[in-house]
Amino acid sequence: MKKFHGATPRGLLNHPTSPSFEGVFGRIFRTLPKAHFSDKALADLGAAMVAPDEGAGQTPETEIDDEENPGIDAGYTYFGQFIDHDLTFDPNSSLQKQNDPEGTVDFRSPRFDLDNLYGRGPDDQPYMYEPDGIHFVLGPSLTGNDKDATAKGLPRNGGDPKRAIIGDPRNDENVIVSQLQASMLRFHNLIADILMKENPHTTFQHIQQTVRWHYQWVVIHDFLPTIVGQAMVDSILPHLKSGKSIHQEKPKLSIYSWEKDPFIPVEFSVAAYRFGHSMVRPIYRLNQTLKDRQTIFGSDPNKSLNGFREFPLNWAIDWDLFFDPGKAPRVGIDRIQKAYKIDTSLVNPLGNLVIPKVVPAGTPPSLATRNLQRGKEFGLPSGQAVAHYLGVKPIDDKDLRVGKANEDGELPDKNGKIANKLLTEISPEFVKNAPLWYYILAEAQQEFKKNDTPIVLGPVGGRIVAETLIGLMVGDKYSFLNQHHDWCPRKEFFGPDRHFKIRDLLRAIRGK
Ligand code: HEM
Repeated sequence: MKKFHGATPRGLLNHPTSPSFEGVFGRIFRTLPKAHFSDKALADLGAAMVAPDEGAGQTPETEIDDEENPGIDAGYTYFGQFIDHDLTFDPNSSLQKQNDPEGTVDFRSPRFDLDNLYGRGPDDQPYMYEPDGIHFVLGPSLTGNDKDATAKGLPRNGGDPKRAIIGDPRNDENVIVSQLQASMLRFHNLIADILMKENPHTTFQHIQQTVRWHYQWVVIHDFLPTIVGQAMVDSILPHLKSGKSIHQEKPKLSIYSWEKDPFIPVEFSVAAYRFGHSMVRPIYRLNQTLKDRQTIFGSDPNKSLNGFREFPLNWAIDWDLFFDPGKAPRVGIDRIQKAYKIDTSLVNPLGNLVIPKVVPAGTPPSLATRNLQRGKEFGLPSGQAVAHYLGVKPIDDKDLRVGKANEDGELPDKNGKIANKLLTEISPEFVKNAPLWYYILAEAQQEFKKNDTPIVLGPVGGRIVAETLIGLMVGDKYSFLNQHHDWCPRKEFFGPDRHFKIRDLLRAIRGK
């Protein structure tokens, strides 16, 4: 059986062949024809989308890296990965279905319900919880971040390597998403302490709902505007701009609809939401006390952020280096690290994912090639066909390039030459016919003007991502949008700008 992110079977490979199928996965663009490509053209494009190995030549921290996106902090890459794992988690056990008091249909729907934290709950997986059945068991203390004296990792078993004992093993895939998972466990414990102090009879369900709603708020008010831009979010949730209630001003979903329950569109999971792969950096600073930075993947366990194992305990992440606390410097060891630009280039380590548990044997090691091939297997339409459907002018072939969005690649040199290749130079099959995942990255890249231009998803990619995430929340009768239209996060968590963002959630747990 094939696996994704090296963990539990996901159901995605039992994908619908009928365009009108709706299960956990379905289609948005049911009437559009599938695009055709040869495997060779996709392999050549995949190879061209992986940047050359920079080896030791990484931009030093004393300089601004021209591949960084000034509009998106590096932490959103992994928060994006965390969200993906929440939505595509499939608690597909028949035992669970029998035990689900609220009906199997709801339980199996993709929802922002943090089942990647809660797993199957304290009754079914008691070993993840303290004896009170309310608080999560946490892992060992982590040091290195002087701002957080109580930092903790994930609880692990005694095996070799030590595997994390968590709701969704994929959230231990790398050291950053692993510490994000541990922080969310701590946030649950913090909410439990606060609510139990206010009312000793408070229930697990009430604590869980409070945690979920804070997280859902962050997805709508922080993550989405950062990735697709506030204007796109406002066009779908107009009440956010007008200040009216969601009942007075209803959400406007123009492409995503469902018959019974919201589903994960394959155009989202196989193309648009894989935008995150282009944001991965090759190297990260975890905290200010470590001498060196760590590489995202590599063979040396003391230097690389590979997951599915216990990492050195002085690797506590200082989240201020991943989510700007406000006016953080762009250079120096206390700088805010930015995500790499959303463009048609992936960093070199993702071109060769020979990591057991991440890439099963016998599949292409290049993540770019795998994404392109999945698009073909799933019969996705071309980027241009989707643009036409949405009433957006498709990008001309002469503007569809492959490579990094930086001044060395995208602007003419003194001889008037642009270093990046044209997509159609890779294969004539791509004339007016671009694979959807590639097209969505290229569309974001059109925003590029100079190295410090912020880049978000464009009108095709942004609409698929925003309508899917918002649609899933609108269609979930337990989300805060449906249950409590004027609900707000707890005021004590608000940041200095009176917003509640992922940065503030991670700040709330410090020292707790
Ligand atoms: C170091 C970071 C990451 C690695 C190594 C990684 C690796 C992978 C791999 C191997 C797959 C399966 C590919 C296939 O065979 O189809 C995959 C799928 C996927 N990835 Fe990533 N990924 C990373 C980060 C991200 C991020 C940041 C996002 C989004 C923000 C993302 C979104 C997805 C989605 C939507 C899928 C398909 C559905 C799924 O399996 O969840 N990934 N990734």
